[in-house]
Amino acid sequence: MALDAVAVVKELQEMRDEGYLSDALLRKAVRRIAESDEKYDWVGVYLLNEDEGVLWLHNYVGEGTEHAKIPVGTGVCGRAVAERRNINVPDVSQDEDYLACSPETKSELVVLIRAGDQIFGQIDIDSHQPDAFGEEDEIALISIADKLAEQLAAERR
Ligand code: SME
Repeated sequence: MALDAVAVVKELQEMRDEGYLSDALLRKAVRRIAESDEKYDWVGVYLLNEDEGVLWLHNYVGEGTEHAKIPVGTGVCGRAVAERRNINVPDVSQDEDYLACSPETKSELVVLIRAGDQIFGQIDIDSHQPDAFGEEDEIALISIADKLAEQLAAERR
């Protein structure tokens, strides 16, 4: 089953309309993404602590990880923030920045949660399949990340 981003975005907007805050939306989004496709073996959201220059793991579905905190510029996750771009790693064994979460992980996709110039964090997905992620995954995840960013921006105003 593929990720139905339109349905997830609608559900997140309905939660916003009902008054739910980002904490609930971030948890809902991670669960919905993780259950949508077998190739999404680990799904998490990291939030950026700008004062400390560190990504903090907010919530995840999958095995526990040693990387609850990742400095900006470190790992694939930290590189995405430092370079202000989404990163698709088709073969993690070929990426010298890669920080292992599980020995089974073969590929990884990081999509930033951002509103314009402001980066709030990221959706991080690991797959046990090599080269698991394509443009369709990225486009779907960007639309979900944008809805999350809308709520995070509203809370920080
Ligand atoms: N692989 C990430 C670390 C996070 S774990 O995958 C959960 C990285 O290289 O930054």
